[in-house]
Amino acid sequence: MIRNTSTGYGLIAIAFHWSMAVLMIGMLALGIYMHDLPPTDPATYELYQLHKSFGFVILALVVLRLVWRGLNPSPKLPDNMKLWEKAAAHLGHTGLYAVMFALPLSGWMMVSASPWGIPTVVFNLLNIPHLPVPAFLGSKQEVEAVFQMIHEYMAFFTMALVLAHVAAALKHHFITRDTTLRRMISTAPAKADS
Ligand code: HEM
Ligand code: HEM
Repeated sequence: MIRNTSTGYGLIAIAFHWSMAVLMIGMLALGIYMHDLPPTDPATYELYQLHKSFGFVILALVVLRLVWRGLNPSPKLPDNMKLWEKAAAHLGHTGLYAVMFALPLSGWMMVSASPWGIPTVVFNLLNIPHLPVPAFLGSKQEVEAVFQMIHEYMAFFTMALVLAHVAAALKHHFITRDTTLRRMISTAPAKADS
């Protein structure tokens, strides 16, 4: 069961969801951990490179994921959900996709504007060029500071969004007792429609 159906997710959508969920939660934790390290700590440089590398993996995966999503039917939300609940679910998912783009892009802009000019080499293999920093945005220091703030606030917003998302999934599973969580774990609900 590779593709989605109107009743559930196929293998590819499930694999995208869980691999990216692990990466996103890991990156939020790594970001906070490395931010608190002193610049002189021997691990700092490597952890920043690792953070940037996985950030670009997330950026690449979210592009592929949205292409796959466009080529597949989206499973219908359960009929017993109220209109506002369906709207909240769509808004929440849109927000999660948006931050999976905007977090790596704001991080990329931050390091591109940094006067330190530290290169980004994904897993020590692929050199990522710095983005151009338009002069009308201000000095490099100013642009770096703005994107650092955007990146940080967006990361905290993402944590809140993920918590609400997980709470909603658990409510579906344990209170409403529908197939919402099960269909993101197994392809059996998708098969019901094939
Ligand atoms: C989805 C991907 C990403 C997530 C979830 C994420 C998350 C975070 C978090 C939680 C922090 C700590 C914020 C703070 O306490 O100030 C952080 C810091 C940082 N991130 Fe990311 N990040 C992502 C992608 C990237 C990318 C692609 C880059 C660069 C190419 C990047 C560069 C940085 C840098 C340089 C810092 C340290 C900023 C500072 O020292 O204040 N991040 N990130
Ligand atoms: C770790 C706990 C998590 C659980 C239990 C969980 C559970 C779920 C469930 C059950 C769905 C299906 C909703 C539906 O059928 O309409 C879903 C969808 C989704 N989840 Fe998660 N999730 C988790 C983490 C995450 C994280 C960390 C992210 C990204 C930051 C994320 C992003 C998404 C997105 C974008 C969708 C919509 C998929 C689509 O239909 O295109 N999830 N999640």
